[in-house]
Amino acid sequence: MKIKNNEDVIALTDNHVARTYGRFPIALDRGKGAEVWDRSGNHYIDFVSGLAVNNLGHCHPAIVKAIQEQAGRLLHVSNLYHIEQQSQLASELTRLSFADKFFFCNSGTEANESAFKLARKYFFDRSETGRKEIITFDRSFHGRTIASLSATAQKKFHVGFAPLLTGFKYVPFNDILALEKAMGPKTCAVMVEPVQGEGGVNMPDKGYFKAMKKLCQKSGALLIFDEVQTGFGRTGKLFAYENFGVKPDIITFAKALGGGLAIGAMGATNKVMKSFVPGTHAATFGGNPLACSAGLASLKVISKKRFLEDVKKKGDYFMQKLNQLAKRHSSITEVRGIGLMLAVQLNRPGAGIVNECMRNGVLVNCIQSDILRFLPPLTATKKQIDLVVKAVDLAFIEIFGESD
Ligand SMILES: Cc1ncc(COP(=O)(O)O)c(C=O)c1O
Repeated sequence: MKIKNNEDVIALTDNHVARTYGRFPIALDRGKGAEVWDRSGNHYIDFVSGLAVNNLGHCHPAIVKAIQEQAGRLLHVSNLYHIEQQSQLASELTRLSFADKFFFCNSGTEANESAFKLARKYFFDRSETGRKEIITFDRSFHGRTIASLSATAQKKFHVGFAPLLTGFKYVPFNDILALEKAMGPKTCAVMVEPVQGEGGVNMPDKGYFKAMKKLCQKSGALLIFDEVQTGFGRTGKLFAYENFGVKPDIITFAKALGGGLAIGAMGATNKVMKSFVPGTHAATFGGNPLACSAGLASLKVISKKRFLEDVKKKGDYFMQKLNQLAKRHSSITEVRGIGLMLAVQLNRPGAGIVNECMRNGVLVNCIQSDILRFLPPLTATKKQIDLVVKAVDLAFIEIFGESD
């Protein structure tokens, strides 16, 4: 079929693609930085960033160059052999994080699956076979495969997929006493997002993770941070755990790790990772040369101190602008987040705001039906932040009938 515009792509999708997504009626076609154009030629400022994947915006020259060079050299080889780009990426990730070793896969859910397997294997190897239970938190999101779904404590995602896996237990987020009560000799690991993403951009209370770490140390359980959404500069630090003064035992990455290519990773201390011996875990595509080259190019830019300081400054500026917006609109009950992972809590559904913004050339996202989430490229300019805030402001006036 010859494609001429958005409508042609939409017809093709409707006829041939499984309907797992509620899609907006546009087909994005090309991008540059924080700007994208659809197949009908309409222009947008993109503050969704492929859901926290395009942290350097669209088609960052360093990533494009790395992919072009690597594509002409070697795309894929099996992990039966050593892969230079994978070793380089692991070496950089270990230099920049608490972890000593990394396992590579292809997505966030798969990174989390490997974390569950590693945590259980660690206790198996210590002959503590009674420790199998993994504790996660209300409003968490860890992925859609059956184990990650079982770890995800949002019932709406479970409907229709029973039976889920046993061995997962949920406790309220930010309730240290509830966690203490839930932990026991069967606890293998506690898994948490440093800032809950899909669950609403929920921030941890001050000291919460320090107390969590203490409980883990006391009981001997492992602490797993799911940094699939928060990693790679999103919160103003390279990794979100750096904001809270706590190091986990295991960490999971995906999304922005590959600069736009599909890759996931799970890192751990040597003490824990030594339980993964040949034959215990694998992924055919995991850590392939192409995705790792893109990851290396992206990490080189994002890990620079000045770049991260700039993210923090822009995040503070954006937050200030959203707080000013909240003063003008009574439908906003809270502004929260950190770095360039920000959200506006509404007291009513926000879908109309998202649609109105899109009509006016701005892409933002609504989660949990009443939370506007902003995940701009970390390279977005203050001017682009101003334009987005203005579009959201006008959308509130148009859709909710609110004015100054
Ligand atoms: C915190 C977190 N963990 C895991 C996932 C799942 O990642 P993927 O969609 O790459 O499997 C997501 C996706 O949104 C996420 O936000």
